[in-house]
Amino acid sequence: MSDQEHKHTAVSLTGRKGNGDKIVALTAYDATLARLLDEGGADVLMVGDSLGMVVQGHSTTLPVTVDEICYHGRAVARGTRRAHLVGDLPFMSFQVSAEQALASAGRLVKEGCFESVKLEGGVVVAEQIRRIVAAGIPVMGHIGLTPQSVHRMGGFRVQGKDEDAALRVLADAEAVEQAGAFSVVVEGVPASLGRRITERLRIPTIGIGAGPDCDGQVLVCYDFLGMVRGFSPKFVKHFAELGEQVVEATRSYAQAVKAGSFPDRSHSFGDVASAAARSEQPNRGSGYGPGSEER
Ligand code: KIV
Repeated sequence: MSDQEHKHTAVSLTGRKGNGDKIVALTAYDATLARLLDEGGADVLMVGDSLGMVVQGHSTTLPVTVDEICYHGRAVARGTRRAHLVGDLPFMSFQVSAEQALASAGRLVKEGCFESVKLEGGVVVAEQIRRIVAAGIPVMGHIGLTPQSVHRMGGFRVQGKDEDAALRVLADAEAVEQAGAFSVVVEGVPASLGRRITERLRIPTIGIGAGPDCDGQVLVCYDFLGMVRGFSPKFVKHFAELGEQVVEATRSYAQAVKAGSFPDRSHSFGDVASAAARSEQPNRGSGYGPGSEER
């Protein structure tokens, strides 16, 4: 890593509050994509429990386990050089007690290679945040639309729309900061409330559906790459249309395989007995099947 390629930490991210240098965050779930997002300049990579929906195909994040977050964390860590790595504490891994929260956070750091943990909630999880931070693990809060409370909210609904509701979200924001969080995700609130929270707090706010005035922004990686087709929430912008490209590439591949035009000679290994074959460099192969021993 060169000097310019410094590693982002919880401390360096908090230090960016108010200096105009917005925090660029994305979710990631595997090493290959993590490597690309890291190279592209993501400051933060989160293994969110959104993986329950976009990787596992569930309709909510509720089934995700600590084991699964750790599994994906190890993969993402192998692909990451600069970005700060945040692991999500999944549903029912921290709500029961501060002791449970601390034990789960410890597992994320020890088994998932995470550098900090994120947990949903405000006033009601302040004690959990305090205990985890006291043990030396940085905590990112998550307030506003908290997907683990989908059933209480009656769906994935924008929060804080009237003044009473906005004051509750503001109280959550302050509780998270006072408990020692180094930053906070603000999800699914009106832009005006995103701005109020950002102005009120001394820690950076990382918005998702919280308007343009937060100190940073996070999106689910498959959303910003245009891989989730069909319904797209208002706050998502596609910065690429990889979904279309994947479908098109699959059509081309299917056509070539059926027509017998792939694989051709240039993608085939030669006869080992021939002189040409001895100087041939086999391609990478699948890496785990026949041919990999020919490297
Ligand atoms: O689960 C998740 O991926 C998240 C981020 C989108 C903030 O909570």
